Amino acid sequence: MNLTVHPAPPLHGAVRVPGDKSITHRALLLGAVAEGSTRIRGYLDSGDCRATMGCVASLGVAVERENDGDGGLVVHGRGLHGLRTPSRPLDCVRSGTTMRLLAGLLAGQRFASILVGDAQLCRRPMDRVVTPLRRMGARIAGVGGHRPPLTVTGSALHGVEHALPVASAQVKACLLLAAIYAEGETVIAEPGPSRDHTERMLRARGVGVESTGLRHALCGPVPRIAALDVAVPGDFSSAAYWIVAAALVPGSALLIRDVNVNPTRTGLLDALEAMGAHIERLDPRDEGGEPVADLLVRTSPLRAVEVGGDLVPRMIDEFPILALAATQAEGVTRVWDAAELRVKETDRVATITAVLTALGARVVPRADGFDVEGPTPLRGAAVDSHGDHRLAMTAAIGGLVARGETTVLGAGCIPDSYPGFAETLHALVPGALP
Ligand code: S3P
Repeated sequence: MNLTVHPAPPLHGAVRVPGDKSITHRALLLGAVAEGSTRIRGYLDSGDCRATMGCVASLGVAVERENDGDGGLVVHGRGLHGLRTPSRPLDCVRSGTTMRLLAGLLAGQRFASILVGDAQLCRRPMDRVVTPLRRMGARIAGVGGHRPPLTVTGSALHGVEHALPVASAQVKACLLLAAIYAEGETVIAEPGPSRDHTERMLRARGVGVESTGLRHALCGPVPRIAALDVAVPGDFSSAAYWIVAAALVPGSALLIRDVNVNPTRTGLLDALEAMGAHIERLDPRDEGGEPVADLLVRTSPLRAVEVGGDLVPRMIDEFPILALAATQAEGVTRVWDAAELRVKETDRVATITAVLTALGARVVPRADGFDVEGPTPLRGAAVDSHGDHRLAMTAAIGGLVARGETTVLGAGCIPDSYPGFAETLHALVPGALP
């Protein structure tokens, strides 16, 4: 599937983005092992989250869609020891979060399971979860060099202290889920602040996770997890496309409603504000243990920014769209400390360079980041998504500010994280799509 985009007139009005992907995955997994039913309102019905739903169902957990208008999901939890032996491999499709979090949850079960995925997922490294889980006593193996598929044979686990070499919420969540079943204390030390949804959600369900700075401790085994309904806020990583669109398309003033503004997620706001972007947080509030706000974005001239250190994990999924913003900013934007980008859905240093260069931008890739020189007038082109949803959406937003027509080739991956992206684009910019 291709998506063709034309230059946009000013963006006005209000948009809502779908529910947060990370919170939806966690609500499903914690709901599966909770005692009682969990209702998840505003869940993200994306390809990645459907993979988690499918795996949870294969583990014997009933997941029902409600038909009452606001379309919730109900997960009928089976308790910490109630999951069933899956009769076939658990298909994580293209979702790294599904595979890594499930590996942790399954390590302490009393049965064996196999975690499989598609070709894109099979290229992604799993040693970051395999190595610490083995230290906890897990019996887990991947294919040469710890790539998927993973076989996990449930075993008795014990707590360890593990220092993550790279900040990763997926690894932290994997180990916290294993720690629930482990004897003794598990301590996870992060080198930087990754998203903290797991810690928040575990605490809200009665599981003691003690966080002191970047160290997180959980004492297991946990006797039970309480069921707790979830209202999933809008995904900041999806809002990011409209934030940058409104910042770049001249004369725009766009309101993005109900966005999760957890500070472990909003590094892009810090970077854009340092670039001179006009972003107001309206009506800040707490919803179900997560900070939420409406964001009002107005176009403004941008200057280059430097992004490294702790800012990187706080905006790890936003580098493609940041790089697009940088093409329109005065000066050289430099990104470093971001080698992690090379092991996302694609090698994002390479794909950011390829996509933006195709639109006429000046991007220089480096081992742990890239430089973007701006401002550069972009020209429409046929641009390959490389099967990466975030690159596909970045190219589409690029098309709003490029001269001529932009065609995103392979846009069928967008619903991995953002079902309804093209429809929202169409509603917002009726002339932008043919
Ligand atoms: C996620 C964590 C991030 C992010 C991914 C979702 C999560 O990965 O890139 O899209 O839900 O925990 P890392 O924490 O491994 O960087």
